[in-house]
Amino acid sequence: MKYDNLLIIREDPIAIVMLNRPKVLNALNQALMKELVEALEYLDQEASVRCLILTGGDKAFAAGADIREMVESGPIEMMQRNTLALWDRIQQISKPIIAAVSGYALGGGCELALLSDMIVASDSARFGQPEINIGVIPGAGATQRLARTLGKHKTMEFILTGRTMMAQEALAAGLVCRVVPAEACLDEARKLASDICQRSPLAVKLAKEAVLKAFEGGLREGLDFERKCFYLLFGSADQKEGMRAFLEKRNPEFKGS
Ligand code: CAA
Repeated sequence: MKYDNLLIIREDPIAIVMLNRPKVLNALNQALMKELVEALEYLDQEASVRCLILTGGDKAFAAGADIREMVESGPIEMMQRNTLALWDRIQQISKPIIAAVSGYALGGGCELALLSDMIVASDSARFGQPEINIGVIPGAGATQRLARTLGKHKTMEFILTGRTMMAQEALAAGLVCRVVPAEACLDEARKLASDICQRSPLAVKLAKEAVLKAFEGGLREGLDFERKCFYLLFGSADQKEGMRAFLEKRNPEFKGS
C-alpha cells in the first residue's frame, strides 16, 4: 500500500509504521491520521504480522496535532469534523503497538505514544502537553491517560504548565519502559517486539485486551468530556491568539476570553 505521510517497513512478524511529514516535525494532520489508522487496521488483519512498531524521525516522533489546520476553526466546526474520533480506532488494534520515540513527542504526539502499548524512548526524547501554551488543552486523551500513568499531581503539573519531560524523567515516572541511545532506539523496539513475537499470539492478544480493561473504568466519559472542552476552546480569542502566535513565531498575549 502507498501512503503520502507514512513509510511502512515490513519485517514480518514485525511491521514498522513510520510517521513521515519531517518538514513539519510530523505534525498530525487529518490526512496523516487517516492513513495511520488505515495502515494499523490493515496490519492488524495481516496474519503474518504479530507486533507493530510506531515511530517518527530523529528530531520528532510528532510535534502534535497540526496547528495550521485548526488555527481558524470554531468549536462547532471542530465538533462536526470530529477528527479525534479517528484516534479511538487505534485503541481497537488487537496487536501490541510499541512506540519508538526520538525527539519531540508533544501534544497529540505524546498522546499517540500514550495510545501505544509500550514506549521505548531514545535519550533525545522529550514528552510534553504544551497545548496550554497555545490557548487550548489536550484533546486526544492526555488528561485521562496521563493521569492514569503519572497520577494526579504530576499530570496537573505537566498539563497546566506545558513543560517537557526528558526521557530519563519519563522512565522514572513510568511513562516509558526503556531508554536507550538515539541510534539504538528502533533496534531496542525491534528486540522488544521479537521477544513478544516468541509468545503465543492468542495469549498476547488477550493479555493486551485484559491490561487495557484496567484503564477503562470511566475512561470513555473522561475522553468525551476532554474532547468537548477541547472543541469548546476554539470559540475563545485565546485559542486564536495562541495558535496564530505560534505560526507567526511570537509570544502570545492571552486575555482570558
Ligand atoms: N502543527 C503545525 N506545524 C508545526 C507543528 C504543529 N504542531 N509543530 C511544528 N510545526 C512546524 C513549524 O510551524 C515549522 O514550520 P515552518 O518551517 O513552515 O515555519 C516546522 O514545523 C519546524 O518547527 P519549528 O521551526 O518550530 O522547530 P523548532 O525546532 O524551533 O521547535 C518545537 C520545535 C518545540 C517542537 C516547536 O515546533 C513547537 O513548539 N511545536 C508545536 C508543539 C505544540 O504546541 N503541540 C501541540 C499541538 S495542539 C494538539 O496536539 C492538540 C491535541 O491534543 C490533539
